[in-house]
Amino acid sequence: MISIVGSGRVGTAIAFLCVSNGLDNVLLVNRNEKKAIGESLDVANAIPKKSNFSIHGTSDYSKIAGSDIVVITASMGVYLKDRTENMLPQITMIKEIAQKINQYCPSAIVLIVSNPLDILTYFFQKEIGFSRFKVFGIASSLDSSRFRYLISEKFSVPQSLVDDALVLGEHGDSMVPIFSRVKVDGKPLLSLIDDEEQSSIVFGVRNYWKDLRRYKSRSQFGIAKNVFDVIDSIVNNHQLSIPVSVVLNGEYGENDVAMGVPVLIDQSGISKIIDVDLSDSETALLKKSSRKIHDLINSI
Ligand code: 2OP
Repeated sequence: MISIVGSGRVGTAIAFLCVSNGLDNVLLVNRNEKKAIGESLDVANAIPKKSNFSIHGTSDYSKIAGSDIVVITASMGVYLKDRTENMLPQITMIKEIAQKINQYCPSAIVLIVSNPLDILTYFFQKEIGFSRFKVFGIASSLDSSRFRYLISEKFSVPQSLVDDALVLGEHGDSMVPIFSRVKVDGKPLLSLIDDEEQSSIVFGVRNYWKDLRRYKSRSQFGIAKNVFDVIDSIVNNHQLSIPVSVVLNGEYGENDVAMGVPVLIDQSGISKIIDVDLSDSETALLKKSSRKIHDLINSI
């Protein structure tokens, strides 16, 4: 069973993908039970006729017992300018949810989607000491999708011709789009753009969410598809290569911090953290990003 804590736009979009693709049973958990039940009644009509699975809604945490995967999308309020705006209530919330998961489904793989993503991934893992390979934050893959999209738009090519668009580090203003690895139609991206164009893409990727909010209240589908792909890999044991936020223990020269790095996902959760070559300037930017997350953690 896949339990989804939080049934707002993102939680319900993830539920819709899981249910309509017949992945597993889904449980929507929300403090507001009416909301959880209402959304589940709606999404239930997307269950394919041949599916063996169903969806239900509840406010009762004990019903997550037996979950194989728990996705956390809950939020204590809206942030407007920075994902860290509600950091303290969000940390309190994630610790409470961690305790419930520890109580009811201690073997579950936990996917964190709520913000501030890296901070919550860190505090969840520290709160109950789950394996760091079974607690990880999904957002760098969303940032990578945005990076790939902006490159494809700039060159007016389909995204299938953009390879290795990867964003690492914080899911925040210090995130690091990795230009040195990207190829557009087989050519190195850095041979096709100048410094100014590079800076403009970095600005576009970092501020994509704010730009989107000028037109609709919140992002929803991109993150949902990225989370769905991870769930699909866990359930069906695909080998998915993707950047996620994970507590680091020496990898990329970092300790005691969670941030986005490339990993391999399979039925066990993270099976491996992948070491990719970065340029010197990218390594320095990643260090700066990890410092920022460290500073936020130490400010608590
Ligand atoms: C996003 O990047 C707000 O973290 C959310 O769309």
